[in-house]
Amino acid sequence: MKLDKKQIKFLEEKSYLEIINSSKVDNLKEIKRKYLGKEGIISQFLHELKNPENVEKRKELGNLINLWKKSLSKKIEELEEEQKKKNIEQNLLNEKIDIAWEGKKLPLTYAHPINYTIQKIFTIFLPLGYQIVETPEIETDENNFSKLNMPLGHPARDMHDTFYFSSKLLLRTHTSGTQIHVLKKNPNQELKVITAGKVYRRDEDDVTHTHQFTQLEGFVVGKDISLADLKGTLELLLHQLFGSNHPLRFRPSYFPFTEPSLEVDAQCLHCQGKGCNICKKTGWVEVLGAGLIHPQVLKNCGYDSEIYSGFAFGAGIERLLMIQYGIEDIRHFYLNDWRFLQQFRLL
Ligand code: PHE
Repeated sequence: MKLDKKQIKFLEEKSYLEIINSSKVDNLKEIKRKYLGKEGIISQFLHELKNPENVEKRKELGNLINLWKKSLSKKIEELEEEQKKKNIEQNLLNEKIDIAWEGKKLPLTYAHPINYTIQKIFTIFLPLGYQIVETPEIETDENNFSKLNMPLGHPARDMHDTFYFSSKLLLRTHTSGTQIHVLKKNPNQELKVITAGKVYRRDEDDVTHTHQFTQLEGFVVGKDISLADLKGTLELLLHQLFGSNHPLRFRPSYFPFTEPSLEVDAQCLHCQGKGCNICKKTGWVEVLGAGLIHPQVLKNCGYDSEIYSGFAFGAGIERLLMIQYGIEDIRHFYLNDWRFLQQFRLL
């Protein structure tokens, strides 16, 4: 390399041309190394200048080379910036989302059979003028028991052992406490109510029971409400669920909060009444409890029981489904096993 002004100027021009013509970041790096690197052309010139024989050239050429070095570094820096920006813009363009593209196909979902059944039953009752009400799962002893004619020590409480938060607060054992909530708020008013939700009881040694299950409850209060109204309502509900004219049996029973009380059986759907394992060879399965609201319950809620009467019924949703589809273990409802759930897709 000749250490003279002409040569330096020539290489300086060349270096500028090279960077201007470099289109890719990699090229630029290459050029940078070539001119500005430790072993690069500029370093070599500066090294040469240190040679004692070049003393007289040092000042003029040293200045020239340093100016070149500065200017080339600055230009390269600017170009690098520019290229980075271009890259970002290009990436953004490439990543543009085409909203017309077909999306991922997700499997169709549907309501859990318990929720589906609740909705189905609600749609039977809404056109009849019933209102849907929900009351808390954490309930007072008073609403769950005392006001429903089950004072402390009443033997009927044995079947309703539950989880207690304190002596006065518990997880409700049935949805009948909803009657107390609603009636207390609206004394001496005629009303029709339907409700559904979780209830809790002590687990029993039996695959048809769990510590938590789901109940449906309906009740009507008005003037001259009779067993005939109750019977007609239950026939309507059960015929919608099990098919019109499905044989039903009404038999007397006992609940502290209804008088008279009854239980309703449906002919076993699996053996058509012939007797099988599901109906324990009786040909019938019990589907719900019901009765006329006990006058004392109405009084407990501020009603005049001489004028007002009413009926109530309660059913276990899981039980209804087990009867309908021959499900032998109630725990299937809570395991969320896709193989079980998807069988209800077409309900
Ligand atoms: N609450 C009762 C039970 O859980 C069912 C029922 C409701 C009975 C309404 C009569 C009237 O067993």
